[in-house]
Amino acid sequence: MIRFEHVTKRYADGTTAVDDLSFEVAEGELVTLVGPSGCGKTTTMKMVNRLIEPTEGRIFLDGDDISAIDPVRLRRRIGYVIQQVGLFPHRTVLENTATVPHLLGWKRGKGRERAAELLDLVGLDPSVYGDRYPEQLSGGQRQRVGVARALAADPPVLLMDEPFGAVDPVVRERLQNEFLKLQAQVRKTVLFVTHDIEEAVRLGDRIAVYGQGSIEQFDSPATVLGAPATPYVADFVGADRGLKRLSVTPIEEGDLEQPPVVHLDDSLARATERLRAEGARWAVVLDGEDNLHGWIPADGFTTKTKDTVRAHARRMEAWLPVGAPLKQAFATMLQHDAGWIAVIDKESNGHFLGVLTPARLHEALRRSIDADAQDVPRAEVAVETVESVTKTASR
Ligand SMILES: Nc1ncnc2c1ncn2[C@@H]1O[C@H](COP(=O)(O)OP(=O)(O)OP(=O)(O)O)[C@@H](O)[C@H]1O
Ligand SMILES: [Mg+2]
Repeated sequence: MIRFEHVTKRYADGTTAVDDLSFEVAEGELVTLVGPSGCGKTTTMKMVNRLIEPTEGRIFLDGDDISAIDPVRLRRRIGYVIQQVGLFPHRTVLENTATVPHLLGWKRGKGRERAAELLDLVGLDPSVYGDRYPEQLSGGQRQRVGVARALAADPPVLLMDEPFGAVDPVVRERLQNEFLKLQAQVRKTVLFVTHDIEEAVRLGDRIAVYGQGSIEQFDSPATVLGAPATPYVADFVGADRGLKRLSVTPIEEGDLEQPPVVHLDDSLARATERLRAEGARWAVVLDGEDNLHGWIPADGFTTKTKDTVRAHARRMEAWLPVGAPLKQAFATMLQHDAGWIAVIDKESNGHFLGVLTPARLHEALRRSIDADAQDVPRAEVAVETVESVTKTASR
């Protein structure tokens, strides 16, 4: 959808803001551009809607070379949320949101209708906020208006330059969650600039990590965190990247262990005998439809009991649907002080799939790093061995 081919931007004073940049963003993909201040993120963004012209190279939108498209027409296809929001202070929230439809010559009523619809979509009741002025909004609300305004003409492409930069971390997280939900509905092709690696990882389908004017790594969040391509990227994503990676790696069925399973209506005596014979200390308890009910210990019951499992089964609070991030699994284990958590199938009303243990969680993390790192030279990401260190030292 968006393609950069060897794009360089040198400003008049000789500053090379962007140096020989090539990358591609697929339709419906959200790519985050992340990097330190002054590394060329905004410059990259503004070249897409021709607010800045490249010195060299070409940019394509949906296969068309944008240098051949009239800038005004081009911008109709591209929503833009600028750094610092940039709402018009003397226009109401509704008027601000309807700016682009207005420029496109929509009928006033239709433009306002669309604006109201979008304010609703970003969580601002138009009957409450529509007639306010930007200064009568909180920072977070202003940012939402910025997003609504960019979506107003339903452009296929969205450029967002630190859209949530000016709010505190709590509000920012809420805006991020809302935006992810929104994006799941509207599926725009999005370039999203941020200097916050957490934000880049949370939102991006892929991340472009900028060094000075060029991309050091362009990969999925899991790969950037698991296998940073260069020492610069490793440094940028931080020493806690293992932890961050937990939040972008989902629980998969293959990660699960299959413990002994008993059913609610089974005879407790026979269940107990079986568990002891297998040397198991506990079993997962399922109902008649193989949905998760809870668990039962192997010890503490006589094999003479006439009870069913139902009478003694304990409820299991520590469970998650398959696909939930490993970080949530870890947090759930800690919260319930549990040595394992049950994993269920979300689609089929809690059908039990298996359990995740700390050991399996670690394996899952390890395996996904290896899978992602296939294209990356291992030497660059491997920890130095004692041998190699001592060899270097003794030379
Ligand atoms: N009009 C200009 N003339 C000369 N240099 C410029 C101009 N605009 C930007 N630059 C320089 O180009 C480089 C990249 O700027 P850019 O705005 O793209 O950075 P950025 O990554 O968006 O930074 P930030 O995170 O601070 O917004 C910087 O060194 C900046 O000083
Ligand atoms: Mg910028």
